[in-house]
Amino acid sequence: MAAKTIDELISLCKRRGFIFQSNEIYGGLQGLYDYGPLGVELKQNIKNSWWRELVYERDDIEGLDASILTKQTVLNYSGHEDTFTDPLVDCKNCNARWREDHLEKKICPGCGSKELTEPRPFNLMFKTNIGPIDDGSSFAYLRPETAQQIFVNFKNVVDSTSRSLPFGIAQIGKAFRNEITLKSFIFRVREFEQMELEFFVTPGEDEEWHTFWVNERLDWWERQGVSRESLELYQVPQDELAHYSKATVDIMYKFPHGTEELEGIANRTDFDLGSHSKNQDELNICSKIKHNNDSNAKLAIKEPHMKDWIVPFVIEPSAGVDRAVLAILNEAFHEEKIEDSKRLVLRLKPHLSPIKAAIIPLKKNNPEMVEMAKKIKNQLQSKGLGRVLLENTGNIGKSYRKHDEVGTPICITVDFESLENGSVTVRDRDSMNQERISKEDIEKYFLNYF
Ligand code: GAP
Repeated sequence: MAAKTIDELISLCKRRGFIFQSNEIYGGLQGLYDYGPLGVELKQNIKNSWWRELVYERDDIEGLDASILTKQTVLNYSGHEDTFTDPLVDCKNCNARWREDHLEKKICPGCGSKELTEPRPFNLMFKTNIGPIDDGSSFAYLRPETAQQIFVNFKNVVDSTSRSLPFGIAQIGKAFRNEITLKSFIFRVREFEQMELEFFVTPGEDEEWHTFWVNERLDWWERQGVSRESLELYQVPQDELAHYSKATVDIMYKFPHGTEELEGIANRTDFDLGSHSKNQDELNICSKIKHNNDSNAKLAIKEPHMKDWIVPFVIEPSAGVDRAVLAILNEAFHEEKIEDSKRLVLRLKPHLSPIKAAIIPLKKNNPEMVEMAKKIKNQLQSKGLGRVLLENTGNIGKSYRKHDEVGTPICITVDFESLENGSVTVRDRDSMNQERISKEDIEKYFLNYF
């Protein structure tokens, strides 16, 4: 099951503290959202799951956390200054601006007029001034993708880790795009996060690795609770490919507003490393290294068994964290009928749940119960699996309802019997089954969920 409309998700997110409109008390700022107490946990858990599987569980990927502000030359040689544009049209009637390729029948969605200007390229990068003098001569861009900082750090990582091909560099971080049209809550925004892997391979082995990463990424999404039936693969046609790509496969998800891109997996060839390299003569020049530039780094690798330097090809799985949050929330969203009422439950995978367990004293004002609940909270919290919450509201029914809605896998209730023999009642989110377990079993029972 999933949400019927995006509004159901928006309402849940606001009500329970997952996501808020940014700058809301001043009327909001379009295309920006803030992650609240539960949203920040969910987002962090998604990023941790990606990082754990790629950087920790594999032995061929290194991590990186590079700067967001990016030198103009980097984004010039990467091709972004020239080509990172969308076609912009103005409505001659109401002056609204639209992205032409998103318009149906070339009609202004605002007023219905067909009187639109000719499309012109609009660069999506945000510029900002560096240093105290704002005369336009010294500016940087907010990075439009995390990838370029991986490419320009290629030599640093290779030199400091002695890596040989194939290997990858992973990075999670903010990216910024001045999108012309925003869409569906956090689906298309102006400030977002990406989880990007640049996986460097020997030219000629790139197509095989491309297929490998498409399959790996599909499996990862399934492990996050996104069912295979909700995902589709889209082979991007040649005339829609980004300027750096030889082939791209998009993983598409059935969002409430339609089936759209969740993650792109591109074969970027040697385009980026080649573009940022200078000493071309020494390189075994690959297809697209044509222009010299201001970079003083030789972004190539010399394998022990090879005579020449080679510029690796790169396979890039690039996923949006915010789209991941939206897809995962949507997949987890379940509304069930129980007798005359409805139960809303987020069936999140436990490793993604913002709260791992809620410990609930039956009576709010009973110091012994609260004390025992605190002890259990501290014991489970120390396992390092994420947030464990002491829920001291004194209203057990309300607490269960809340924790169903936010996806907490278990609730543990401390009652009068607990004070006598240390046993507690545990309630499972999905089945709603309740059972009594002894004091000694609490930790084992909890750990079994993860
Ligand atoms: N480095 C490659 C790259 O940036 P992309 O297809 O433009 O490729 C990758 O972006 C992913 O980033 C997308 O699949 C999407 O999940 C996310 N993304 C891109 N633009 C976004 C936006 N405006 N708002 C939210 N997520 C976005």
